[in-house]
Amino acid sequence: MVRRDLLTKTQGLSSKTQYPIPKTQNLRPKTQNLRPKTQNLRPKTQNLRPKTLLVTGGAGFIGSNFIHYILNEHPDWTVINLDKLTYAGNLANLADIESQYGLLNPSKDLVAKTQDLRPRYFFVRGSIADRELVDALFSGEYFAANSLNPNTQDLRPSIVVNFAAESHVDRSILDASPFIETNIKGTQVLLEAARTHWLGSKTQDPTSNTQDLRPNIFLQVSTDEVYGATEKGKFTEESPLSPNSPYSASKAAADFLCHAYWKTYQLPVIITRCSNNLGPFQFPEKLIPLAITNALENKPIPIYGDGLNVRDWIYVLDHCRALDFTLQKGKPGEIYNIAANEERTNLELIHRLLDVMDNPQSLIKFVADRPGHDRRYALDITKITRELGWKPLYSFEKALAATVDWYLNHESWWRQIKSGDYAKYYDRMYSHR
Ligand code: NAD
Ligand code: TYD
Repeated sequence: MVRRDLLTKTQGLSSKTQYPIPKTQNLRPKTQNLRPKTQNLRPKTQNLRPKTLLVTGGAGFIGSNFIHYILNEHPDWTVINLDKLTYAGNLANLADIESQYGLLNPSKDLVAKTQDLRPRYFFVRGSIADRELVDALFSGEYFAANSLNPNTQDLRPSIVVNFAAESHVDRSILDASPFIETNIKGTQVLLEAARTHWLGSKTQDPTSNTQDLRPNIFLQVSTDEVYGATEKGKFTEESPLSPNSPYSASKAAADFLCHAYWKTYQLPVIITRCSNNLGPFQFPEKLIPLAITNALENKPIPIYGDGLNVRDWIYVLDHCRALDFTLQKGKPGEIYNIAANEERTNLELIHRLLDVMDNPQSLIKFVADRPGHDRRYALDITKITRELGWKPLYSFEKALAATVDWYLNHESWWRQIKSGDYAKYYDRMYSHR
């Protein structure tokens, strides 16, 4: 049972934050309300040609925020979302997108939502490691063969944004195999398909101006965790990779493959490495949504070790904006770090969260540490701010308030998750800790 007294208290508190809070009925974050109004904070669109994006892992946390963001920002762009729907993939994250931009009834009546508006969103269930499926998507045959393209749009993707991944460090410690399959093999399958369909048998002339390689972009969404941990200073894009967990090792391997496809074939790959995200739709195995939802259920909040590990937090919409800047202004072959310079120890973070939610600090429970737990991540973001003109717009305080508010207003979303297989995972992970 939810403690109504807690909910009332937290709702009152979150409104004190003077944050523009979306009062939505549906699951969609009101990005238009959350976005700052100023025009010049968006990337200047360089190439206005309509684009078809293959977004992988779009039913997960960051991918679903990105699809909302991109379809709102770019009225002439189309998104194909390829997602395997693992435990972390949730079509409820995109229910409003499906009804607003998708096909009226994807399984039977293959008509666009309105006669004059072509669908701009297509969902395909499948794995990025399935070469046949990925090839059929790149060639456009998938839609022709399944009569899923009533308006005979050109649905061959010119851009790939690869979010699809096994993403949780703790799960990678329990079993690394799915991380190898998706994060490494899956990325290689996508790279190979992009090479085959975009470049054919040729490689690009390495002496040509890299800008000529537009409009194709393969954007690999990577993580700060590939650099490993540091007690002092910040990682730049030149820092050596030194991953410590099976998760970060698999992401680093994917980054190396991306680099190799750029160097060997001049496939126009860009890698972004972002710090820890918070925001709507995050699966409650990760620290912040786990803590918010546990607090709402008056359950202990497990803190690993001494709680002094440091993470640098960024609001998910700032990450999505940075990816949009990168697609429009980033250079093929380059790497861009993305972060908001908001470092907190886990303990500081949870103390602040419990304050914002008006819950007692006594909910904190120190538990056994994560094996190989990275002490601190920190990124230097000079390159993306100077070269692409991006900067984060959300302070940690605003991001935290917006995130708490979203979980308060979407109780059925997280309760559905927590009552399913998640309960078994939670028990396995925390009951003997
Ligand atoms: P998530 O776990 O919430 O979502 C992952 C999505 O990928 C899910 O929808 C899942 O169904 C899908 N997926 C998994 N295996 C697949 C496969 N083989 N084929 C197709 N789809 C598959 O992850 P997230 O937190 O949204 O992270 C997205 C990406 O961003 C990941 O690549 C992650 O490494 C990276 N990243 C995440 C963070 C963060 O703080 N969450 C920070 C930096 C980078
Ligand atoms: P997490 O959200 O899993 O992200 P990552 O490991 O990719 O940084 O964890 C964030 C931090 O919180 C990390 O230092 C581990 C810690 N943590 C806890 O203390 N307790 C928890 O229950 C979880 C899930 C994480």
